[in-house]
Amino acid sequence: MKRTCMGKTVILLLGLCLTAAQAQADDNPLPQLVTKDGHHALIVDGAPFLILGAQCHNSSAWPAMLPKVWPAIEYLHANTLEIPVYWEQFEPEPGKFDTSVVDTIVQQAREHNVRLVLLWFGTWKNGSSHYIPSWMKSQPDKYPRIIGKEGRRVDTPSPHAPATLAADIHAFSALMRHLKSADTQHTVIMVQVENEPGSWNTVRDYSPEAQKLFTSPVPSELLKAMGTNAPASGGNWSEIFGTNADEYFHAWSVAHFIGQVAAAGKQEYPLPMYVNASLRDPLKPGSANTYESGGATDNVLWIWKVAAPAIDLLAPDIYQGDSARYRKVLELYSQPDNALFVPETGGTTGQARMCFAALGHGAIGWSPFGLDYTKYANQPLGASRLTEESLGQVALNYKMLEPIMREVARLNFEGKLQAVAEEKGELTQTLDFGSWQAVVSYGVSRNGSPKGNSEPIGRALIAKIGENEFLVTGAFCRVDFKAVSGGQRDFLRVEEGGYEKGAWHPLYIWNGDETDWGLDFSSAPQVVRVSLGTY
Ligand code: DGJ
Repeated sequence: MKRTCMGKTVILLLGLCLTAAQAQADDNPLPQLVTKDGHHALIVDGAPFLILGAQCHNSSAWPAMLPKVWPAIEYLHANTLEIPVYWEQFEPEPGKFDTSVVDTIVQQAREHNVRLVLLWFGTWKNGSSHYIPSWMKSQPDKYPRIIGKEGRRVDTPSPHAPATLAADIHAFSALMRHLKSADTQHTVIMVQVENEPGSWNTVRDYSPEAQKLFTSPVPSELLKAMGTNAPASGGNWSEIFGTNADEYFHAWSVAHFIGQVAAAGKQEYPLPMYVNASLRDPLKPGSANTYESGGATDNVLWIWKVAAPAIDLLAPDIYQGDSARYRKVLELYSQPDNALFVPETGGTTGQARMCFAALGHGAIGWSPFGLDYTKYANQPLGASRLTEESLGQVALNYKMLEPIMREVARLNFEGKLQAVAEEKGELTQTLDFGSWQAVVSYGVSRNGSPKGNSEPIGRALIAKIGENEFLVTGAFCRVDFKAVSGGQRDFLRVEEGGYEKGAWHPLYIWNGDETDWGLDFSSAPQVVRVSLGTY
């Protein structure tokens, strides 16, 4: 009798606990990446979230350096900091984890009201393994580097080393387990697994273990992913992939390793996870020995998808200076099965506008690299000195987007948003919204014709929020509308304002000079809601 009562009490308590846990989960859901009709959203606190990001320099994630990081993040109005977790710091002795630095970062991020994307500098960092703990570095036979074609070791970790894989899984799982308990409020919204994995100076591993796998049958999952093009199974890598075999084999090997690390981490705590890629030239790629082989370059995204299903997205680090290449990369990495996220890019005045080009491809976030006030100058990729002036155009982006961040993320997810960046020589861009066309022009004054800005720095974002209603923001451009019906456009009402908790708060109405020639945006962060009619 007693036992039954106790049993009932336990069941009741358990029921209450589960209900409480469920309520908490509903109030405070895990960040996740969702896809619908080929559009993607990063859901944070239960709604689409746009990462207005900045990545700090490689050595800025030490507590001593953080005071030089936060002022830049604040000045930029960034809502997310991308910051490394160094394996060598996190596991100074085998199996002994030091969570103090990650805890400090999370704590300070909360104080600054900023979210975090943590970068796991694990087995791979820019193709090498310079962040593995010293107890691993001192055992190079146990945690080996690759053997190149000429039989010499190359400074890049072997993806075929079981001890390295086990150690990475162990450490990364410990990190995710710790985050699960230490970050119940989800300050950390996404995790990058490794950093620019792959290999420089060799297309693949030629060690005896690698040779054995290379001459074995290609995994059936990969053949299956080739669909109707799939050759009969049983062939080895050379037989199936010919001249691409070395690179494809390496991509599979690296991705398979990292997929296992990510899957183990997700078992502890399933935050969205991604892998960033050092790119090949998207227009004239050249052969695999001219770029970082094995990473998630555009030609092997499909291999990564099969080999590492625990990775939610593959993300391009875009340092391509010219816009044709930049735009091509955006196109290649924004796919129905791959959400576009730019985790690294240049933050210069000229490149700031490409944030809008990325949003035009449905990006869930955009984040220039090396934006902190530590003394390191990341030349030639970044500015020689980081000052408020050199950060100014990225800050302008984020000031424009901050008051509409949730709406931009939601409207992009719903496929209702278009955004553009100025291209030299292209004076106007026309965007199709069904019964309306939005016309963006650059370098205009009053009723003069567009001449383009002296440097292409213009950008605009337009979203359809009602039958004849649009949300518009931009910089160094004019936005106007044309009715497809042929009627003449009438601005019924143009309100400047912003959103708070999903509700639009108008500040004032634009009219007269502010609307007579179109909607002009210069260097001020302004968002308007426009109601249109015809006469
Ligand atoms: C790409 C890497 O992912 C970053 O960690 C950093 O090394 C940058 N290159 C710039 O140097």
